Amino acid sequence: MQSKARAFVNIALIKYWGKKDRLLRIPYQSSLSLTIDNFYTDTHVVYDEKLTQDVLTIDGKIIVDDEFFRVKSWMDMLREKYHIPYYAHINSFNHVPKKAGLASSASAFAALTKAATKAFDIELDDTELSRLARLGSGSASRSIFGGFSIWHHGNNHESSYAQYLGDWSDFRMLVCLVSGDEKKVGSGDAMEISQKQPIFKTWVKQAEIDLKEALDALDKHNFSRLGKVAESNALLMHDVINRAGINYLNASSQALIELTQDLRKKGYPVYATMDAGPNVKVMTLSSYVEEVLPHYEKLTKVYIAKPGSGVLCID
Ligand code: PMV
Repeated sequence: MQSKARAFVNIALIKYWGKKDRLLRIPYQSSLSLTIDNFYTDTHVVYDEKLTQDVLTIDGKIIVDDEFFRVKSWMDMLREKYHIPYYAHINSFNHVPKKAGLASSASAFAALTKAATKAFDIELDDTELSRLARLGSGSASRSIFGGFSIWHHGNNHESSYAQYLGDWSDFRMLVCLVSGDEKKVGSGDAMEISQKQPIFKTWVKQAEIDLKEALDALDKHNFSRLGKVAESNALLMHDVINRAGINYLNASSQALIELTQDLRKKGYPVYATMDAGPNVKVMTLSSYVEEVLPHYEKLTKVYIAKPGSGVLCID
């Protein structure tokens, strides 16, 4: 009655921002991401008939706050769905640079979904794992898959899941670490406030157009078209967030975005994307990494990420 799973962080090129159903985490629009190979979460789940409630540790620390209740309510959902009569010890380890704001609920809930189902011998296909992971964290639906994946927004639990789209072995992400304060507003709350802004409708419409462009560019392996639409989609999302009175980016993030735009003017294929935090992820191709890397390393610590694998059992 135990299992250990590993899931990798994914970075969205076309972002998920906004939920039409908060409980089921059904987004307004579909999103597209790349699962990367160097940051991941390992989660060990052990069902124990002696336990009277779940026990959660993250990176060796017992968790009793909101994070515990989020995991507990997800486990309650799973217990009810699959008639699991036990509580569990859940030990989760994040393999990400410490204090980098990269600890990701995407890799965490994808790993938990795989480990918690496998530990009770429930064999599910990746589509069903994706639906279940989504109930813990929207972006976790995409970390079930390696390489590129699309999360179809759908309209209900059944129709909202991610799907593998393929790989691109030369694709690279330079993860530029920017230190920032602890996130003041979590992504769930920030989405809620964003959804109330007049610009939100424009965002949803534009994101659907961006997705079509990105899918076509991905299909044709046209890097500059994919990078261009991914960068403008990220900037629009941050514009929406700013209008909601929240700012996740800081002066170092801005400097990295400007550097990316300058390098582009010099002919390098580099494009930036940012999520609900100050880190900047630069998309490029393997043959340009050596030339562009020193420019970024002058400003900050950089990790080079390649396309990674989907969730896997590691017992
Ligand atoms: O899954 P959440 O609630 O952490 O939302 C993540 C949203 C973004 O990272 C900003 C965008 C995305 O699509 O991953």
